[in-house]
Amino acid sequence: MEISTANFTRDAGREFMTSVLVPRPVAWISTVAREGRRRPNLAPFSSVAPVCNKPPLLSFACGRKLDGSRKDTARNILETREFVVNFVGSELLHNVAVSVNGLDLADEFARAGVSPEQSKEVNPPRVFESLCSCECRLEQSIEVGAADCRVDLIIGRVVHICVRNLGWNSQSETSPQPFRGLGALGVDWYLVGGEATFQPELGTETNNDND
Ligand SMILES: Cc1cc2nc3c(=O)[nH]c(=O)nc-3n(C[C@H](O)[C@H](O)[C@H](O)COP(=O)(O)O)c2cc1C
Repeated sequence: MEISTANFTRDAGREFMTSVLVPRPVAWISTVAREGRRRPNLAPFSSVAPVCNKPPLLSFACGRKLDGSRKDTARNILETREFVVNFVGSELLHNVAVSVNGLDLADEFARAGVSPEQSKEVNPPRVFESLCSCECRLEQSIEVGAADCRVDLIIGRVVHICVRNLGWNSQSETSPQPFRGLGALGVDWYLVGGEATFQPELGTETNNDND
């Protein structure tokens, strides 16, 4: 089947992206508003991707609300230039589900059934129950997409990492355990567990020619 994307609707694009680019790690992103009066914001994102190894940069794509305004996550990050990417284990699937569409004034950590933990380098708290929390400072944001499908591509510099139960530590030189995080598949489908295969003869995955 050949598919031209020339007339893709927003929904068709979403279905393609979420069904073919799989699995994607599910991360809770925590932020705080500039004025600091509101409680910390917590929302799940599955578009998190590695960008650069040195300095460690990661990105995620934050879409807009139906009225075209920015979601709280992007608005907070653009205002404060800080956020935490908390990678989630499979056991938190249901907690993630209830954390979507949080109300502005709600305690989104309590609503999701998780605990805020003071970060080391940034203001937004980490999620204590997550496998790994990456404290980030905004490196760059790029606005992309059609007028009715605006997206903020947020690139963050990871300034501090808290590893809890990942099977990896910075001393792991060889064969780290595969990440056991929650994976997002097509719309409403998730990867919980699954088989990992160790295949060292393929070489190390790298995004720099001279790595
Ligand atoms: C598993 C999962 C992954 C999601 N990934 C994204 C994403 O990558 N980008 C996005 O804009 N919204 C994503 N969403 C939707 C946001 O979580 C949702 O719009 C949320 O209400 C935004 O909250 P905020 O307004 O507090 O930022 C995802 C939702 C779920 C359940």
